Amino acid sequence: MQKEIVVSGIRPTGNLHLGNYFGAMRNYVRMQEEYNCYFFVADWHSLTTHPDTKELRNSVLDALAENIAAGLDPEKVCLYLQSSIPEIAELYLYLNMMAYKGELEKTATFKDKVRLQPDNANAGLLTYPVLMTADILIHRALYVPVGKDQEQHLEMARNFAQRFNHRYGELFPEPQAFNFGAALIKVPSLDGAGKMSKSENQLATLYLADDDELIRKKVMKAKTDAGPTETNSEMPGYIQNIFQLMSLVSEDSTVQKFRDDFNAASIRYGDMKKALAEDMVKFITPIREKAQAIRSDEAYLQKVIKYGAEKARESARKTIEQTRELIGLNYF
Ligand code: ADP
Ligand code: TRP
Repeated sequence: MQKEIVVSGIRPTGNLHLGNYFGAMRNYVRMQEEYNCYFFVADWHSLTTHPDTKELRNSVLDALAENIAAGLDPEKVCLYLQSSIPEIAELYLYLNMMAYKGELEKTATFKDKVRLQPDNANAGLLTYPVLMTADILIHRALYVPVGKDQEQHLEMARNFAQRFNHRYGELFPEPQAFNFGAALIKVPSLDGAGKMSKSENQLATLYLADDDELIRKKVMKAKTDAGPTETNSEMPGYIQNIFQLMSLVSEDSTVQKFRDDFNAASIRYGDMKKALAEDMVKFITPIREKAQAIRSDEAYLQKVIKYGAEKARESARKTIEQTRELIGLNYF
């Protein structure tokens, strides 16, 4: 049986963090055995918000090294850079004819980003979901492992695929968000507000590149309070967040112990954070060390980039040929 096709991308806009790991990369690693996977570094996408490209090359290589360190095997998956595949830009052009101004302006991420950079509300930002759709449809992927924040983009991708199929003929499957386990994951920030993210509060986000002392410092600063005064109290959101983080990296029995302590109103948050910090250190250190070793071997990374580009272009070329044929752009 043919393996189902999977595509996902991460923007190289800073070091990867736990949200990226649990929302996206962990699923990539698990999918690489059973699916035909295409994973890429979305360097074109990063230009919508980061026009200054001094750090771009560095960030792209960091992202590649961190993905490999987290367990992706460039022999098993196709690992490439978005900008290596010009066919994506061509498909983006066709899909732009199917995307309407009104729906693009309503996209939550567009509105957020315009708020963050009011002086640079560029057309690339507006059509971000169209480029993302092209990334996915170029390999005719069915599954897209992403975090919850990308659901709206995927809904738009399904609409654009449908419109294309309807106008020119069946070519594209309708891609779906994918996560092992029932729900898409949102890794909360340590300050009790929102999610871990590259662009927001850096001290409330744990990066895969953080050293042991920094991890401990950030975890110990996580928002807590004096603790419940009555048994079986309702748990405040910021405490739920700490439990959620703990359930990602600690043994079930550890989480259960602190849950019991909370319900008994005897919990000591200082102890809980110390336990969480040590489990985070245990989790992040091997990934960080492996990423550093891979990152220092630029010749190897260049080989990965070249090999990935060849494999990805082979698949992209087939899709573009069929797209041109269906639209009627096959003149010879
Ligand atoms: P960021 O939001 O930090 O800029 P990206 O937008 O590059 O990160 O996201 C890359 C991937 O990581 C996406 O699939 C996204 O859904 C996932 N992701 C990012 N932050 C989180 C988070 N806090 N929880 C779960 N998934 C996340
Ligand atoms: N938009 C995604 C993000 O911000 C990154 C991305 C770009 C992507 N193209 C994609 C994810 C295609 C999955 C598939 O995180």
